[in-house]
Amino acid sequence: MNIQKIRKNVKKYLDEKRYNHVERVAKCAVELSKIYGTDPLKAETAGILHDVAKFFEIPRMLDLVRGKYPEIENKIFWTNAILHGFAGAEFVAKNYDLFEVDDDDIFSAIKYHTIGSENMTTLPKIIYLADAIEEKRDWDGVETARKLAKEDLDLAIKFEIDRKLEYLLERDSVIHPNIIKFRNSILK
Ligand SMILES: [Fe+2]
Ligand SMILES: [Fe+2]
Repeated sequence: MNIQKIRKNVKKYLDEKRYNHVERVAKCAVELSKIYGTDPLKAETAGILHDVAKFFEIPRMLDLVRGKYPEIENKIFWTNAILHGFAGAEFVAKNYDLFEVDDDDIFSAIKYHTIGSENMTTLPKIIYLADAIEEKRDWDGVETARKLAKEDLDLAIKFEIDRKLEYLLERDSVIHPNIIKFRNSILK
């Protein structure tokens, strides 16, 4: 993996603000990888790549994911928030010449960084959490989540999911079942 080449190519798809966010996620993911014993280079790579499809139009995202994922077949899930992870993973997998990434753990981390999934391994969990707690994130409870993140990865994620569910319920938003499955898999 050539992280500088990945950085250069990811930059082409993001604006400056979003690019700075992915750098902060990568930094946070590296810190967490050291605590939880996963490969820091993989954590950095997944952090840089996780939002690569964030600015794709919905039809482009659908072209990338069509027919591949039963969990996003229902049209109610065709939102930027839900699709950009799946589309990003497919985009990276399809463009080996740009990113030189062929790693299921990294693909999974990109795919599930917004809605989670059942039985996530450590790297996807780290990217999920790093996305929510990177240093510029500012939501009610983020300080608690940052503190928990250093002590217990699952507990920190459960704390974040619970706040996220409250937020979504208050706004009458669509809730993807994966987030509930993710939460249940942590409770087990
Ligand atoms: Fe994202
Ligand atoms: Fe993100």
